[in-house]
Amino acid sequence: MRRTRLRIRLLISILFWVILVSARAEAGPSASATCANCHKSKVMEQRDTPMGRALALPGSNFVLKSHPRLTVRKGSYTYVVETHGNESTYSVTDGARAITVPIRWGFGAGAQTWVLERGGKFYESIVSYYPAIVGLDITTGDEKLTPHNVEEAFGRELSDDDKKTCFGCHATGTQVDSKLNLETLKPGLTCQRCHEDSNEHMAAILLKKLSPMPRDLGALSSEGISNYCGQCHRPWDMVVRSHWRGEMNVRFQPYRLANSRCFSGTDPRISCVACHDPHQNLVHNTSSYDAKCLACHASVATAAQVAASEVPKTCPVAKSNCVSCHMPKVTLPGGSSHLTFTDHQIRIVKPGGSYPN
Ligand code: HEC
Ligand code: HEC
Ligand code: HEC
Ligand code: HEC
Ligand code: HEC
Ligand code: HEC
Ligand code: HEC
Repeated sequence: MRRTRLRIRLLISILFWVILVSARAEAGPSASATCANCHKSKVMEQRDTPMGRALALPGSNFVLKSHPRLTVRKGSYTYVVETHGNESTYSVTDGARAITVPIRWGFGAGAQTWVLERGGKFYESIVSYYPAIVGLDITTGDEKLTPHNVEEAFGRELSDDDKKTCFGCHATGTQVDSKLNLETLKPGLTCQRCHEDSNEHMAAILLKKLSPMPRDLGALSSEGISNYCGQCHRPWDMVVRSHWRGEMNVRFQPYRLANSRCFSGTDPRISCVACHDPHQNLVHNTSSYDAKCLACHASVATAAQVAASEVPKTCPVAKSNCVSCHMPKVTLPGGSSHLTFTDHQIRIVKPGGSYPN
């Protein structure tokens, strides 16, 4: 139904658009074409999501614009992040020496870390902005560093590989011939980052052809979708191979979900996109997920059906707000952490129980 309506709406908009383009044929058919010409509401919604804003450039870095002066002291070093108009700077001093550089790339739509360039090298900032404290603290993962001088206190140097993957997960169009290219970068994840073959689709449609269509991502199995989102949210096998144990792995949803007894690699009711629309903001109202759980744990299951394992069990405790008990919030461990995630290993949580791996 949804698809049919979409198709009709889209065909009408193409018709308008093709007429418009033919009228301005001298400009070339794709001179100003974008996905928004035909998928307007998706574009309008998606660009303001955290994924759409996963990287910010100067001028549109709203985290910094709304916090024009941030400062923190860590050991013998003082950090200041200052914004005037569209320009921001990051500086560190030990009282005697100071290093100050402009901020070009802000990673993260909520919490934010800066990738800094100095003397032709790239660094991850040693301090980051955290909404939970409305201020700066040590960047997650850098807690164990003990800087010996201002250079070391400034940032953690990124390898070529780090640089490539960093920009690759937070932005679009960052690679040309599989090499990092910051000239072609578009901040955040745009349509083309996930629908990698959609430019061909757009070109075809502008020539009034309906193929090739972009790969139908909705046709992936739940395991396929987990791996697809896992390109960036990290797949199960990477977490296992890297021995990322303990509460820090709560941020890797594909891994946690696969460890849940609810997960099946072939059942679409437990796929990432059953609960999340990647084009829209995350839904925070916990009771709105009830229908997702009840799609399998139907409250009308008879004792005989459950005994025969025809349907999963029902809850003896409550009939609503399932995720509030079975998908608990977990704060990352470590003295300087200010990040909380939702445990996707759906389970019975025992009071005082340990974190299952
Ligand atoms: C001139 C109009 C037009 C433009 C421009 C356009 N599309 Fe489409 N798109 C369509 C039509 C029509 C469909 C078919 C709708 C259907 O069958 O559900 C479609 C379908 C899709 C699908 C669904 C494929 C599937 O089977 O699941 C995706 C994804 C998509 N477009 C992405 C994009 C992206 C990304 C862009 C920009 C790079 C883009 N489109 C530009 C008209 C357009
Ligand atoms: C190309 C990399 C990439 C892919 C693929 C990707 N994500 Fe993301 N996702 C990110 C990044 C980066 C962020 C963090 C944005 C931020 O806060 O700056 C994010 C954030 C999110 C959030 C928002 C969390 C919040 O705090 O509100 C949700 C929900 C999400 N992703 C779900 C998905 C789902 C579902 C899929 C698969 C359909 C997916 N993502 C695929 C990179 C990706
Ligand atoms: C984080 C990855 C991601 C981004 C960014 C993204 N998509 Fe999608 N898109 C998906 C996935 C996964 C599906 C399949 C989900 C489903 O069928 O529920 C999908 C499905 C679609 C569909 C077909 C089903 C539907 O809901 O109509 C269209 C059309 C589409 N996307 C267009 C776009 C456009 C236009 C943009 C840019 C505004 C965009 N997408 C950005 C991941 C993404
Ligand atoms: C493999 C893909 C990937 C790489 C590489 C990557 N990120 Fe992310 N990043 C993500 C995803 C996905 C999220 C969303 C966290 C979540 O909700 O699970 C995220 C979240 C963030 C956040 C928000 C705070 C947090 O920790 O959740 C910051 C800041 C950030 N990344 C900075 C960086 C920087 C800087 C680099 C490079 C040094 C980097 N990221 C490399 C995928 C990636
Ligand atoms: C059965 C429903 C369900 C499924 C399936 C599911 N999620 Fe979630 N997800 C949630 C809920 C509930 C939240 C927390 C919403 C809130 O309270 O903000 C959440 C939060 C998130 C967040 C925000 C960060 C966090 O951990 O709180 C990301 C990113 C995310 N999910 C990604 C994924 C990915 C990727 C998959 C597939 C591997 C997935 N989810 C599968 C229900 C689900
Ligand atoms: C794809 C179907 C499916 C979905 C969707 C699903 N589950 Fe399950 N769940 C199962 C199956 C199968 C089992 C294991 C067998 C059983 O309980 O009968 C299970 C087991 C459980 C258990 C017992 C776990 C244990 O360790 O004993 C809990 C609690 C649970 N689910 C809660 C939920 C909640 C809450 C949601 C929604 C966030 C949910 N489930 C979504 C299929 C599903
Ligand atoms: C107030 C917290 C709470 C809420 C809300 C809640 N549950 Fe539970 N659930 C529990 C506890 C505690 C248990 C373990 C009971 C026991 O072992 O005696 C449980 C057990 C379960 C089981 C395993 C049953 C079995 O026989 O092994 C499933 C499945 C389940 N819940 C699903 C759900 C679903 C689906 C929802 C939403 C409709 C939900 N729960 C809402 C606390 C809750």
